Amino acid sequence: MSQFHTLELLSNDGCYTITINRPDKLNALNRQVVTELHHAFESVACDESIRVVVLTGAGDKAFVAGADISEINTLNPMDAQQFAQYGQQLMSRIEQLGKPVIARINGFALGGGCELAMACTLRIASSNARMGLPEIGLGIMPGFGGTQRMARLVGEGKAVELALTGRLIKADEALQLGLLNQVCEPAQLDDTIQTLVSQLAHSAPLAMRNIIAAVQAAGDVPLQSGLDYEAQLFGLCCATEDMREGTTAFLEKRKAEFRGR
Ligand code: COA
Repeated sequence: MSQFHTLELLSNDGCYTITINRPDKLNALNRQVVTELHHAFESVACDESIRVVVLTGAGDKAFVAGADISEINTLNPMDAQQFAQYGQQLMSRIEQLGKPVIARINGFALGGGCELAMACTLRIASSNARMGLPEIGLGIMPGFGGTQRMARLVGEGKAVELALTGRLIKADEALQLGLLNQVCEPAQLDDTIQTLVSQLAHSAPLAMRNIIAAVQAAGDVPLQSGLDYEAQLFGLCCATEDMREGTTAFLEKRKAEFRGR
């Protein structure tokens, strides 16, 4: 029997799709969902056949409408701090997976849902999506990394405005702010994601891992350290069979077959 009760998992041609499946609660993140996501991403990390992950929410209304407010309502300060750390560890696990994770944002991505989307490598939304950090309306604040990742993605000024007002923004504004990579009509969402998945599933896995790591470092380290890190990872790329294959295939005017070696 599957160990997952709140997730639907589907593996297809190098792509692993994880669907949070609590549509009656707009896929809110309770402790069980967070635990199951930890387990799902842990197994994805170890599976070389998975080249790209799509993370989404069930139904057509929400990606994830936040942490589960009925659970937050009962937390004491110690449990709340631990829950925040547990959620933050999940976000870091996703961010540091070493494979691209695409957030398929098919509706509300609020609070913990927005934080989850921000931990993904790429964010693609349907035009009816709404994003935001509405925790302030509950007398709390983001706790799964929202203050930090929002500031890095859209700048401190906008991040503090969004978290202080709790204002929900439409997909177009989120795209303009740099919070989203792409927006499309709801009917086009799956095709848009599939186009990207097909490309990434056939790209060189080790080079992708290094690109993600190097770009992530840009937000954390001084320029020269980032440049040194980039040069080091570039050297590692050139130690791979995939580098030989990619450059040789170009010279032989054929399509490269990358194997992640
Ligand atoms: N936690 C727990 N349950 C949630 C939830 C959350 N974050 N978000 C939605 N739900 C539940 C609702 O309680 C409702 O359950 P019920 O049918 O048993 O009453 C169900 O999901 C549907 O939500 P509903 O509010 O009826 O839908 P709506 O279309 O009227 O409104 C939202 C949609 C997203 C605007 C609204 O649900 C909302 O504001 N949710 C909370 C967003 C939030 O503050 N997130 C941050 C949490 S820290």
